[in-house]
Amino acid sequence: MTKIRAAIKGIHAWAPEYVLTNKELEKMVDTTDEWIMTRTGIKERHILKGEGKGTSDIGTEAVKGLLKKTNTNPDDIDLVICATVTPDMVYPATANIISDKVGIKNAFSFDINAACSGFLYSLVTASQFIETGKYKKVIVVGADKMSSVVDYTDRTTCVLFGDAGGAVLLEPSEDENGIIDSRLYTDGSGRVHLHQKAGGSVRPASHETVDNKEHFVYQEGQPVFKFAVTRMADVSVEIMERNNLKSEDISWLVPHQANMRIIDATARRMGLEKEKVMINIERYGNTTNGTIPMCLHEWQDQLKKGDNLVLAAFGGGFTWGAIYLKWAFDGKAVAK
Ligand code: ACO
Repeated sequence: MTKIRAAIKGIHAWAPEYVLTNKELEKMVDTTDEWIMTRTGIKERHILKGEGKGTSDIGTEAVKGLLKKTNTNPDDIDLVICATVTPDMVYPATANIISDKVGIKNAFSFDINAACSGFLYSLVTASQFIETGKYKKVIVVGADKMSSVVDYTDRTTCVLFGDAGGAVLLEPSEDENGIIDSRLYTDGSGRVHLHQKAGGSVRPASHETVDNKEHFVYQEGQPVFKFAVTRMADVSVEIMERNNLKSEDISWLVPHQANMRIIDATARRMGLEKEKVMINIERYGNTTNGTIPMCLHEWQDQLKKGDNLVLAAFGGGFTWGAIYLKWAFDGKAVAK
């Protein structure tokens, strides 16, 4: 019996309209465009404005576009997984809220929290349901409203993050294309360097936690950087070696967009020239679970059936991983 592979059959992404530039940040905190560009590669990021708007609104835009593009009836969707660290609420899951907003009624849905690696974790999880033959149409959403957990008086974090998201449709492949291999890792001891201090069961919200600004991203940049730069490159090389891939076999590296220097180091270790690396960090910053689907969406026109893609990420947790997949459709042929 031939193995069923899960293939991405559609992609859509969405970023809010408002653009927060480095110039504007210069007026908010003690920073410069030059510092931000040289240390991170970020020029601007999109921010979701408006009372009562949350991550589900980003995910809903992405899923609506995906259903339209792929001509999919919401009733046919079996499962929705949303990767996010900024859920609308602690519960219920943002995936449930997105499903409700787009009219998906016959599916079950849940969230996955693996910080910036969440989209990869979710893609691997979703692919299992297709590979077993149990389900035929699964949506994976990666979305974050990072502006809801960023302290805009803290120059060490507020320059890094933005809001955006994307969604993919997974279906059983009719050929050899689809997700071929994946390698995911976790090291929980890394939690001390990157976390949100309050709002969980250990430190529930109180006047004190709000006064101490404990509901924002806390990150010790340097230790996270050191870990990220080696682990993201290591796992990308590991996935190449496991699948006998040489640099010339790879059509695209789709890296999580946290820092230009981390992306460069990963591409270098894989022996890839820059033309083969999807990079849009300059315009969106780190949108956490949004970065990889945002890239796939932006590069869709250039993606051809059979292209070898390596998706790689590193995030809080620590979490990291890589996926090797063969792209399953000609991007140019898809209606906008
Ligand atoms: N503007 C100007 N100066 C700044 C700014 C700023 N925005 N931010 C920090 N500085 C200062 C610091 O205060 C420090 O000053 P000091 O030397 O006087 O103490 C100096 O610049 C250097 O600071 P570092 O933190 O050492 O800067 P670094 O080169 O490490 O860059 C950065 C910081 C960009 C955060 C980097 O460490 C990084 O990218 N880390 C990894 C991020 C990552 O991958 N996170 C994982 C994914 S996120 C997630 O999962 C949610």
